[in-house]
Amino acid sequence: MQTISYTLDQIDAIANLLIQEAGDQKVWIFRGEMGAGKTTLIKSLAKALQVADGVSSPTFGIINEYQTQAKGFLYHFDFYRIDDPMEALDIGIEEYFYSGNYCWLEWAEKITPFLPERYFQIKLELASETGRILTLHHYQNGH
Ligand SMILES: Nc1ncnc2c1ncn2[C@@H]1O[C@H](COP(=O)(O)OP(=O)(O)O)[C@@H](O)[C@H]1O
Ligand SMILES: [Mg+2]
Repeated sequence: MQTISYTLDQIDAIANLLIQEAGDQKVWIFRGEMGAGKTTLIKSLAKALQVADGVSSPTFGIINEYQTQAKGFLYHFDFYRIDDPMEALDIGIEEYFYSGNYCWLEWAEKITPFLPERYFQIKLELASETGRILTLHHYQNGH
């Protein structure tokens, strides 16, 4: 478990640090309330992986697919609008999770039964108007 605080002007450095910290783990779960900064951090991460411009294609309004310069595809999921976890299964989330590409998940609590056994969790909390605190944890079989 590791805790890091940051402001927006530090976000690109934080993104690079997270990529290092995740190592081989490509499935990342971003937890935190609305406005905590999940999407903002994901955009900075995409930038760090040199996402090619204009190739974002939302699938079913839940999955955004991006092609990176050197690290294959990356998938950004936002499950906020999912009512039944089966909807996520129907669009093939498991294939994405086991594809070896980066999968970054917002509102993963909506699909709890289908989360992989191992993932990298980033919890975001407000420290102040501009400050955020990240708590990092590598999950393995629920621990
Ligand atoms: N240190 C910070 N890190 C991330 N976002 C910040 C920070 N400080 C302020 N913000 C602001 O907080 C808001 C976070 O929104 P967003 O990323 O959409 O949150 P979420 O996806 O968690 O709902 C943005 O307006 C962003 O500019
Ligand atoms: Mg968001």
